[in-house]
Amino acid sequence: MTEHVKPIRHVGIIGAGAMGTGIAHVSALGGMQATLLDAREGAAKAACEQIQKRLDRQVEKGRMSQEEVASTAQRLHVASGMQDLAQCDLIVEAIVENIDAKLAVFQELETLVGPEVILASNTSSIPIGQIAAGCEHRSRIAGMHFFNPVPLMKLVEIIPGPDTTPAVVDTLLDAGSKMGRTPVVVKDMPGFLVNYGGRAYTTEGMALAHEAVATPAQIDAIMRDCFHFRMGPFELADLTGMDVNFPVSEFIHGNFFADPRLRSTPQHRYMMQTGNLGRKTGRGFYDYGKDATQPDPNAHTDATPASAIVVPHSTPALDELLGTLGIKTTAQDDGESPILIAPIGQDCSSYIHQHDMQQQAARVIAIDVLGDTSQRVTLMTAPGADNAVIDAVVATLKPHRKVCVIKDSPGFVGPRIAAMVANLGCEMAQTGVAGIEDIDKAMRLGLNYPKGPLELCDSLGVQTVHSVLTYLQELTGDDRYRPSQWLRRRAQLGLTAQTPA
Ligand code: NAI
Repeated sequence: MTEHVKPIRHVGIIGAGAMGTGIAHVSALGGMQATLLDAREGAAKAACEQIQKRLDRQVEKGRMSQEEVASTAQRLHVASGMQDLAQCDLIVEAIVENIDAKLAVFQELETLVGPEVILASNTSSIPIGQIAAGCEHRSRIAGMHFFNPVPLMKLVEIIPGPDTTPAVVDTLLDAGSKMGRTPVVVKDMPGFLVNYGGRAYTTEGMALAHEAVATPAQIDAIMRDCFHFRMGPFELADLTGMDVNFPVSEFIHGNFFADPRLRSTPQHRYMMQTGNLGRKTGRGFYDYGKDATQPDPNAHTDATPASAIVVPHSTPALDELLGTLGIKTTAQDDGESPILIAPIGQDCSSYIHQHDMQQQAARVIAIDVLGDTSQRVTLMTAPGADNAVIDAVVATLKPHRKVCVIKDSPGFVGPRIAAMVANLGCEMAQTGVAGIEDIDKAMRLGLNYPKGPLELCDSLGVQTVHSVLTYLQELTGDDRYRPSQWLRRRAQLGLTAQTPA
């Protein structure tokens, strides 16, 4: 604890909805008094009852004692009006996401509480500086952005406005820790850290589906099996709901002046417009109906395995993968066997073109050697590929691995999405959204990513990620794929993504 931390004893929470209830819960658990206020009659009391139920369940599960629950519950209070918050030393606003409504609350608070009381907003999209600009004592105003459901999500973003003092930031870091969260300091940017950084994963998944490179089921399976994300981008979108993730995507894209890196797809908007919101409406990218059958991402065939596989340009990663699978190959083309290539960043077509292999193009199959190939492998072909050749390669691999066959794409599916996640992480580091370690920590905790974006970048290799993006940008002509300067410099210098500026 630094010398200017003023330990928080009493937290006031305005807005007893999903978020306010959770914030009161973790405040009381953290040993602080928590007083809840809501404009809706009975809402704060109902929130306290809900917290009590959640606490009781902890006793049933043996995670808390009766005594701990009783003392936690004693710290929960219902306010009858804003004046009841005068005793608090921190007030967290968690009302409807509307600047006028929030400003009205902050301005009224300023007439009731002393200038030393810290006022925080849990807003997910309104700039903290904009709220502070409407207030008199701006130095005590900050963002305290929790994640839903609060008791389960360990992260809290602490967002200083232009005038917030370091003492206020330190006090909020301390309060966040007491609440059992992991606090990180984040710049006052659109989407702050997690909602901004999270755009790459979903929107690149959608970009791949938009280009008909692969189906949502294939993309999800690849991201789970080969890159260890808990959910694929489409499962995740269905879980959060298009009514939530599309407006967030649109907001962040718009607020970054239409940066193509943050662009979503027409289908994403269409799903929101047509009410195909995901799990909550029974259909999104997947059908959740009782009798619905789930799409199969895996390739199946009864064909005979290839008797020979030609590898014209072996690479250590390809040799290793084929060695693990026990597949024998030859460098000499016999004019009829499948030809296996392992491009990094290039698609099949550009690889064939670069190596003057047009005569053999129908027999060329690319295999993805990046990511974890121990459960699943991805195959990719150029237009005009011979289906019999694809089947022969699938039949060769099928006894050892699940196989996805996708259409031509620079960076296949997994490396392309991973490179976009890594690149946005690099851009966050470049623009100082948060410290390097905090970027990784926040993305792991806020989004359940297996690795933070910079860690992901280093695990794939900075030069590999840079190469995938450079090819993507060159081959598509789309600045969506332009490498962050942070990434480019580290690739050129042979440094890790986590190397400070
Ligand atoms: P909610 O709709 O569940 O709850 C809002 C509550 O505020 C309601 O109970 C409403 O009666 C009350 N309220 C509205 N105006 C009020 C006023 N002037 N004074 C007192 N009470 C008032 O909303 P939710 O989901 O809890 O979100 C609250 C805030 O947290 C929003 O700013 C939202 O953007 C932000 N947030 C939401 C997340 C989520 O996943 N739901 C995640 C992170 C932030």
